[in-house]
Amino acid sequence: MNDVVRFAGKFALIPRVGLTRLPTPLEPLKRLSAHLGGPRLWVKREDCTGFGFGGNKLRKLDHVLTEAHEADTLVSGGVVQSNSQRQVAAAAAKLGLDCHLVVYHGRLQPPSDVYEKTGNVALNKLFGATLHDLPWTGDRNHAIEDLAARLTQEGRKPYVVPYGVSNGLGAVGYASTALEIAQQSAEAGFAPSAIVHCSGSGATQAGLAVGAAACLPDCRVVGIDIDAEPARVRSDVIQYARAAAAFLDEPFDEKCIDVVAGHAGPAYGVPHQATIDAIKLMGRLEALVLDPVYSGKGLAGLIALIEEGRWTQEDDVVFVHTGGEPALFAYLDGMN
Ligand SMILES: Cc1ncc(COP(=O)(O)O)c(C=O)c1O
Repeated sequence: MNDVVRFAGKFALIPRVGLTRLPTPLEPLKRLSAHLGGPRLWVKREDCTGFGFGGNKLRKLDHVLTEAHEADTLVSGGVVQSNSQRQVAAAAAKLGLDCHLVVYHGRLQPPSDVYEKTGNVALNKLFGATLHDLPWTGDRNHAIEDLAARLTQEGRKPYVVPYGVSNGLGAVGYASTALEIAQQSAEAGFAPSAIVHCSGSGATQAGLAVGAAACLPDCRVVGIDIDAEPARVRSDVIQYARAAAAFLDEPFDEKCIDVVAGHAGPAYGVPHQATIDAIKLMGRLEALVLDPVYSGKGLAGLIALIEEGRWTQEDDVVFVHTGGEPALFAYLDGMN
């Protein structure tokens, strides 16, 4: 039995809530590849996971929320323009659950006058979430757990979704993306040399690394640090990857965790010129919408690695579009 069939067999037995529309497409980026003159580029459309503007968190939630069957309320949190909490709010709406979100202010200076109103903020409200404004302290999960404790005292049955939907089960969910890439690339007649994506709270990279080790052994997973905290990102990725590998009963070697620093710009949530250029390039050549906090920085990192000569024209490289389009509207003013 080949690795892909074996790993697919395992996934067929793992419960999902059924939130996502899978597999997401794997498409060639012909015009971007020709423009950059490096490897053949492909995009895995994780912006198309389903409802509420999609994104990488829905795939994690599909697994994580199997634990929430007794809950009447989802509790989570993130910064003002968090894509993660927007996807939690969307999932809650779809499942008929209440949703309470801690909204952290102050991790970054608002980049525009509309930052606090448009994009993900407007969608959180549209999906019916209750927002609790709090200052950012650097502790991602403490205030979320406090809020859940308060709701429990009030007689609710909250389920806590961790910051970024990142934990071991979230990483298990994301390993299925590597499985899909293995299946779709085989059908398209190529073997990817690398999967490149932006890495923040860690479970996306953890899942991709465990999944690729299982069914794409010659493919390197490269996470572009967008938090400007590469050591913290790497250590979180390793923690979630270990948990996912144990759950899936797969081997894991931390040597496969490749977190690339230097492309996060001045700080989390603050785009630099390379990010803005990457977003414009993807829009102009491929009509794909990236965001200035995550996927735009991811593409800026990929372009830099191509320019450094990491791959040849004989390689195929898959860029994971992890979503985040709504956040673009909160940044447009500063992008001209
Ligand atoms: C659009 C987008 N891409 C990538 C990421 C990073 O994924 P992870 O937090 O699993 O590292 C996030 C996380 O919030 C995101 O919103």
